[in-house]
Amino acid sequence: MVSRVIPVEDFDLVIFGGTGDLARRKILTGLFRRFVSGQMPNTARIIGAARSELDDQGYRDFVRTAIGEFGGDEKKDTKALDHFIGQLFYTPIDARGDGGWDRLHELVRQEVVNAYYFSVAPGLFGDIAERLHRYKIADSTSRIVVEKPFGRDLESAQELNSVLAKHFDEKQIYRIDHYLGKETVQNLMAVRFGNVLFEPLWNAQYVDHIQITVAETVGVGGRGGYYDKSGAMRDMVQNHLMQLLCLIAMEPPSKFDSDAVRDEKLKVIRALQPVETHHIVRGQYDAAGGKKSYREDAENPKSFTESFVAMKCHIANWRWANVPFYLRTGKKLKARSSEIAVVFKDLAHSIFPEDEARHRNILSIQLQPNEGMDLQVTIKEPGPGGMRLVDVPLDMTFADALGPESEDVTDAYERLIMDVMRGNQTLFMRGDEVEAAWAWTDPIINNWVEKHDVPKPYEPGSAGPEDAMMLMHRDNRRWRDIKG
Ligand code: BG6
Repeated sequence: MVSRVIPVEDFDLVIFGGTGDLARRKILTGLFRRFVSGQMPNTARIIGAARSELDDQGYRDFVRTAIGEFGGDEKKDTKALDHFIGQLFYTPIDARGDGGWDRLHELVRQEVVNAYYFSVAPGLFGDIAERLHRYKIADSTSRIVVEKPFGRDLESAQELNSVLAKHFDEKQIYRIDHYLGKETVQNLMAVRFGNVLFEPLWNAQYVDHIQITVAETVGVGGRGGYYDKSGAMRDMVQNHLMQLLCLIAMEPPSKFDSDAVRDEKLKVIRALQPVETHHIVRGQYDAAGGKKSYREDAENPKSFTESFVAMKCHIANWRWANVPFYLRTGKKLKARSSEIAVVFKDLAHSIFPEDEARHRNILSIQLQPNEGMDLQVTIKEPGPGGMRLVDVPLDMTFADALGPESEDVTDAYERLIMDVMRGNQTLFMRGDEVEAAWAWTDPIINNWVEKHDVPKPYEPGSAGPEDAMMLMHRDNRRWRDIKG
């Protein structure tokens, strides 16, 4: 199956922080892939703006090196690479002063779509937004892209929203949560709302519980300075896990339109009940087998920051009354694996009395590393041994089902940037969603701070602290195995 690539309109994209890590690893390499695929028009231009004193040629060399380092097979297309590099421009910029803004004004073409990617510290959002208007660079048709972390609590998120709102309308603001750009995350909506099969069962009558796991094998080495002030709750739960939870739990929107989808997600966040203290487990990885502990990685020997969180939460509405949602995420776990599992209830009555095993249907949606879905169903074990039942997966690994050419190499970032150019906000967080997510997260974090809560240690390469297992066992349930 060959995927259909529809080119976006001609654009100028300005990347503030254009020499930063995210620009090098994700934004520029991703844009080059979109260029090779034919989605980025060959007249579209990228303008880097950062503190470094580079000229256009210096920036072109910089980007060529970045693509050499982080790009994939597409970089072998040297003709395309040369053309892409020729579409790059640069201006040194002083975000808090006047340097560079006139040159930026000259560079940006007004007649094409223009977008401004704020790949900079949130403290600079206001300065940049204000100057984009003062120097008459941006107008009411421009789009701005902002990165997480969007605040570190409700108050700071509200401040950021109001700083941006002074200069841009909500329709112009694209808040990135890269999990929303992942292929399978969008597939969640396709599966739920494109099939008649699942939606009638998607409620408290048939679902026993839902598990969402985002497990990573990496530690925090290299970014301990940022992470130690955030922890897993701010870094992963408030945004990525919350978004997954919304897509799984939301009511069907009336149409696949940005506000219709985001209205429904917002209702889920607002219906989340406060989490009881004994329904949360925090963990921090220890040292083991010559590998550094979290505290060594974060270079903070007294750190109480969590690198792991597991929790049980409830959504107070008719659809999900009394259905627990178990969320879990952590660093240095046994495998890199992100999965959502919808565990259905036991049969109301079994007609096979000799079968003692408990058979359950489980729909497992794997986000990474291998994108796909499988549905655990019960069948008869083949052979003459009587009516013995066995659980088997109905495997829908996408690459197997759709053929290897269908394996989508589009990274979440490049997909989302193309959505910005198309003016489609469906996969971006709206200001009120972000604030609602913080309003739910803040009391949990504040409670830890007030009580000087100490995270439970766990062994690197494990499934997290023992207490996280107990969170499930107490309810007579089990976590799904973390396997890559
Ligand atoms: C980022 C977090 O938002 O997501 C990181 O800041 C985390 O700590 C990363 O490692 C995980 O993203 P992915 O796409 O690798 O699952």
